[in-house]
Amino acid sequence: MSDTLTQRELGLLIIRFSLITVVSFVAFKWMLHKIDPTKKQKEEAKKKALANLKRLGMKTDTDLNDHEMMVAANLVGPNDIPVSWDDVAGLDNIIEELKYSVIYPIKLMRARPESRLTRPPKGVLLHGPPGCGKTLLAKATAREAGTNFINLEVSLLTDKWYGESQKIAAAVFTLATKLQPCIIFIDEIDSFLRSRTTQDHEATAMMKAQFMSFWDGLLTDPNCTVIVMGATNRASDIDAAILRRMPTVFFIDYPSTTQRQKVLGLTLKGEQLASDVSLDVLATKTDGFSCSDLYELCRKAVSTRNQKAFQSYVKSQENGGIFDSRNQSKEDSSKDLSSSQSSKSPSSKSERPSGDAEFVNIRISPLCMEDFEKSLVKMKAARSIFQS
Ligand SMILES: Nc1ncnc2c1ncn2[C@@H]1O[C@H](COP(=O)(O)OP(=O)(O)O)[C@@H](O)[C@H]1O
Ligand SMILES: [Mg+2]
Repeated sequence: MSDTLTQRELGLLIIRFSLITVVSFVAFKWMLHKIDPTKKQKEEAKKKALANLKRLGMKTDTDLNDHEMMVAANLVGPNDIPVSWDDVAGLDNIIEELKYSVIYPIKLMRARPESRLTRPPKGVLLHGPPGCGKTLLAKATAREAGTNFINLEVSLLTDKWYGESQKIAAAVFTLATKLQPCIIFIDEIDSFLRSRTTQDHEATAMMKAQFMSFWDGLLTDPNCTVIVMGATNRASDIDAAILRRMPTVFFIDYPSTTQRQKVLGLTLKGEQLASDVSLDVLATKTDGFSCSDLYELCRKAVSTRNQKAFQSYVKSQENGGIFDSRNQSKEDSSKDLSSSQSSKSPSSKSERPSGDAEFVNIRISPLCMEDFEKSLVKMKAARSIFQS
């Protein structure tokens, strides 16, 4: 036996070594894939993203990388946004300003790309107290401007894996640029772009830096129609560097009496109102209410009115008057009820409305001032608890 390897043995050794390397590499990749805790989230995001892209008429996902696909799960097309200017009451001045400073420039840029100064701003900030229509306005703006809308959820940017957040932050901008014109909307923007401190985690600090550098990329590319729109009720908490990148600012304050009257009018559109209901009086009595408080007031008033209707319906049932509203005589209905109770036959049972159908028989009267007054008392009591 010779000490040196023959050529054949050497060849076999190399093949064996290569095979082991390939198998180990594949096994390692498979294991990494299996232990990745974000695997399920990524798969779900991909499914959602594909559905979104299909709805927007985009043929393939081949142009998007994994991270862009994750962001595409938050994508909404202008025609899929269920909010328009018609759903916003009392903010005509702000709508007008938004039209001139954001929407028309987007449209004009497509028609007249030569002027640099007609271009829309790259950053818009909506700020003001909660429940006054910031989110509503942002959505309506995207719809009216006909832009795609990435409703960026902050949780998407806070990946536990080192480096992932930065890649996602980058993907937000690359995807938006591919889909332009596009609005990147960040609700409660203060929660993730708040003033940087020395206590910030390194990964968070890097993600913010990445976000800002991509944003700057937008600023320097004059032909790019991507707008970052942020909403907050704590503008003072936002990083100064971020505020500088959002030069167009709208303050949406608590509604005035006239605005409250308009919001009440819009919220109650389609509801039957009794003749004693005065929106003017209600607007005066709701000083300090936000628009979402007014919505809640109307919802509570409807609930109070319905409660009365349910109670009288239950009472009429107890009195054997269950079928009154189906134009049956009381004797007929009581006969029907007693026969169904005594015989419990399937045929008599089947004549009774069942499930939701029974609710068709409930007589709902128009909303009256008393319903609003009661709700107002309840809401004011709840507010005083929170304020004390
Ligand atoms: N201007 C408005 N007109 C009509 N409804 C409004 C208006 N502003 C707010 N609302 C109601 O209040 C809810 C919350 O508004 P939202 O835009 O989310 O407030 P914000 O983002 O300022 O906290 C909306 O879903 C809507 O029902
Ligand atoms: Mg909001």
